[in-house]
Amino acid sequence: MVYINSLQRNVNDSLVETILTLDALRDLGAREIIAVVPYMSYARQDARFNPGEAVSIQTIAKVFSLLRIDYLITVDMHLHRISDPNKLFNTRFYNITGVRELAKYFKTKHEIRRNETIIIGPDEEAEQWAKIMSSELGGLEYSILEKKRISAEKVLIDTRGVNVKDKKVIIVDDIISTGGTIVEAVKGLRELGAEDIMVGTVHPLLIGDAYNKLLRLKLKDLVGTNTILSPISKVSVAPAVLEALASIKAI
Ligand code: R5P
Repeated sequence: MVYINSLQRNVNDSLVETILTLDALRDLGAREIIAVVPYMSYARQDARFNPGEAVSIQTIAKVFSLLRIDYLITVDMHLHRISDPNKLFNTRFYNITGVRELAKYFKTKHEIRRNETIIIGPDEEAEQWAKIMSSELGGLEYSILEKKRISAEKVLIDTRGVNVKDKKVIIVDDIISTGGTIVEAVKGLRELGAEDIMVGTVHPLLIGDAYNKLLRLKLKDLVGTNTILSPISKVSVAPAVLEALASIKAI
């Protein structure tokens, strides 16, 4: 049995709904349960950043580990400080990527030529997604920027003089939350002479005024996946989920 619910928008409602449903499914005799949670909320709170805070993802994982699910599939879950998610969630854990689907979108919608377009990851953690995007688009050059987070909304980006002059750029990141990272990255890249800039993200959270901030950048394209429903969720992660399900012989 496959249960799918992305913990987005009414996050706490969907979380409680998911917990209750998964537990009921097992009680009612489900033989095997595969939970697909494309966006795992609370995953970024993976440390006590300020004294007294909860390490939210650990708490959520403790609850999941009681649910007796056989597999958990997430999409580009923030795993930076989680070394063993199988153990944390007490199940077989698959973290698949939505970046391949984003790459297919760019390939279909835009003319992407080697030596003309460069992939940029806006921070060190984004190198993994820049690499995937680059290889899916035929081995395009990629580079990463350096980011320092000042507050929840404010980041400083050091473009480190990447060579983007007269180039088309695709920025790829896992999440756009307040939009601060993308706004600063675009500013920096334009100062260096980047031409058309496109942005692809897996989870378009778009908190607060983020969408308007991004619209003001007049990007060539701005696209996210449907792990979170938003005005830019133009790409489906269904093919990636189906592939994962097939690989665990669920279908
Ligand atoms: C950070 O770990 C993520 O990869 C994103 O760069 C970050 O969540 C984006 O946040 P914001 O849009 O608020 O700058």
